Amino acid sequence: MYINFWYPVTLSEELKEEPIRVRMLSQNFVVFRDSKGKPNTLSDTCVHRGGSLSGGVVREDCIQCPYHGWRFNGDGVCQRIPSLGKDAKIPKRARVDAYPTEERYGIVFAFLGDLEEGKRPPIMPINELDDEKNWRANVLTYEANINFERSIENGLDAAHNEFVHPTHGHEGEGDDYKVGKLDFVDNMFGPKKWGFGFWHAFKSPGSKSDGPQIKEASDERMAGSGIVGPNQMWTYIVFNENSEFRQYMFECPVEENHVKIFLINMRKMMLDPNMDKPIADRCMVIAKQDIVILEQLDPVLTPQFNTKEFLVPSDEPCIKYRKLLNGWKKKGWKIDTTELTTNLGKKAYAIPSPARKTQKGWVLDKVPLS
Ligand code: FES
Ligand SMILES: [Fe+2]
Repeated sequence: MYINFWYPVTLSEELKEEPIRVRMLSQNFVVFRDSKGKPNTLSDTCVHRGGSLSGGVVREDCIQCPYHGWRFNGDGVCQRIPSLGKDAKIPKRARVDAYPTEERYGIVFAFLGDLEEGKRPPIMPINELDDEKNWRANVLTYEANINFERSIENGLDAAHNEFVHPTHGHEGEGDDYKVGKLDFVDNMFGPKKWGFGFWHAFKSPGSKSDGPQIKEASDERMAGSGIVGPNQMWTYIVFNENSEFRQYMFECPVEENHVKIFLINMRKMMLDPNMDKPIADRCMVIAKQDIVILEQLDPVLTPQFNTKEFLVPSDEPCIKYRKLLNGWKKKGWKIDTTELTTNLGKKAYAIPSPARKTQKGWVLDKVPLS
């Protein structure tokens, strides 16, 4: 799990007047809206004596701790310590980490890290959402007991479709099955350093389906996949020029072995709103086919050394992904979960926020990084 990336926090519609507690990267966060509706994401641990801020209430655009009533504004700065009396001066150290928070596509995103604004990676753009005439969206969320890297690697794996998804492949029954050439491209959504993609042609039996029928001229398709950062992935499946799926996945590691996935499935066909439900159902059938396999992988985490796996050319996207992850680890962005687990219950941490770059004297230590 890595700091310094954007993570999907919650669906916009699930964040109402009440603050909510969200677990991400093995840490707790409080998320609340101010009086203008702007969402805020703060470390959930009150720096007084460890109260869980999300159990409190929102007062004057601040989250008020349920234990002794300290109030923290959207920047994490304490505005009021009731026990000191009215008009008391608030000490500078009385603050919690606050994270840049943005709302897009009906999802609240938080930047969990301390990078300055200009250095942050992008949230994947979904331009199809601006073209309602040709595209229609489904927004889905689901959770699984999978390490998020395993989930992303699965999305980058052209060879699994044939076997894991009976509706896409032939289950290996044809003698002529082979993963064709993978054409790599640079990151489609921003600077090269944040990701890459690849395209390949594949054959699919098309209408052999338990879901909505798609009209195609042939069983030959183009598919593309790619990543932006460790946890954002896109997959395009092109049936023909009028029929296409574009899936955008934003994954949030809740724990090292548990992921919450926010999927925006865009379709350039079957635009009738009545098709939303069958399409959503179909997406979930496919997601569950992956989950069944991924929850049983051994080890749970991707192996640290490639020598503990036997990789073949169709695993190349996976290797590229791991190289990028390794680069982010070298920058010191990977959370040291071994140390985190050692101190479980004995020590509260916080993901470092951008304010730590300019201010000293934080009450909680930042999460251990490897
Ligand atoms: S623990 Fe939060 S106000 Fe005391
Ligand atoms: Fe899959």
